[in-house]
Amino acid sequence: MTVATAVAGTNIALVKYWGKRDEALNLPATGSLSLTLDRLGTRTRVAFDGGDGGGDLLTLNGARADEKTSRRVSAFLDRVRARAGVDTRATVVTDNSVPTASGLASSASGFAALALAASRAAGLDLPPNELSALARLGSGSAARSIFGGFVEMAPGTRADGTDATAHPLAANVQGPPGAPPGVWEVRLVVAITAAGEKAIGSTAAMTHTARTSPFYQAWIAGVDADLAAARAAIDRRDLAALGAVAERSALRMHATALAADPAIVYWNPATLAAIARVRALRDASPATQAFFTIDAGPHVKVLCAAEDADRVAAALAGVPGVLRTLVAAPGPGARIVEAA
Ligand code: DP6
Repeated sequence: MTVATAVAGTNIALVKYWGKRDEALNLPATGSLSLTLDRLGTRTRVAFDGGDGGGDLLTLNGARADEKTSRRVSAFLDRVRARAGVDTRATVVTDNSVPTASGLASSASGFAALALAASRAAGLDLPPNELSALARLGSGSAARSIFGGFVEMAPGTRADGTDATAHPLAANVQGPPGAPPGVWEVRLVVAITAAGEKAIGSTAAMTHTARTSPFYQAWIAGVDADLAAARAAIDRRDLAALGAVAERSALRMHATALAADPAIVYWNPATLAAIARVRALRDASPATQAFFTIDAGPHVKVLCAAEDADRVAAALAGVPGVLRTLVAAPGPGARIVEAA
């Protein structure tokens, strides 16, 4: 096969990945744990057809991609070509279901969809763990978007990174005794607080944090306990416990970055106002169980029960500086949608 199209949903980490043990192989310093979403994803078609004659040709959301993005994608395709014994350049057409201007475009769904489409188009039929390791080479968080629902990423211990892969958590298919089967019906309400690209990308920011933040070692030392607490909360379907871990992990990640030199500040006033609104929802009577997390940008994502999602979205929409909200549910892993 020389052409394949894949789709992948983005994922939001509830226990964050922020630091690498190996930059060349993109190996994370710690594990992480996330939820793959049913919307906010990427659709990518890869054809090993000679590209533009000289190199790979990448179209992103209808326009030719900038040089930096093209280089990153070509370097990734080189790995796929080397593995498959293919030396033909490719045409890659990729579309994100979130407008890039919202600042939410994600390398997670992007490299998950690219890993699946490119490997299939090159004639490889990789098992999910190898696909996850391949996606990780493009972006650490992409390793998790290979799988649906709640997913844990292992940092691995091997130097070659073959054990640094993600896996779906059992709670996706099997709840505690007596619980209905299927994914735990939580929602993530996304509050968009700024337009445009983020100031500093995650790769550069986490590397800078590791090199200059005096809090970095303490951050790394705390992640395993958060992972254990998150896993246990998911097994019990305990939203309050999972939410507490998610908030702690996000705040510690940002605290570590804030302490870097020079500091990395992703938040804007609306970020803080949204955090305050989430805390107020919990303190209100009757209380709404809602818990925030924040990635390498100013947007706020709020974990809540499915039945509370509309109320949480309405509350966030009323926060000054929140431009837009959307509600996402747990979604499936990366998949091939068309093999022509
Ligand atoms: C804050 O996966 O984008 O979203 O591996 O360098 O591509 P690279 O980084 P990336 O970092 C994600 C950082 C985060 C937390 C997370 O998703 O775990």
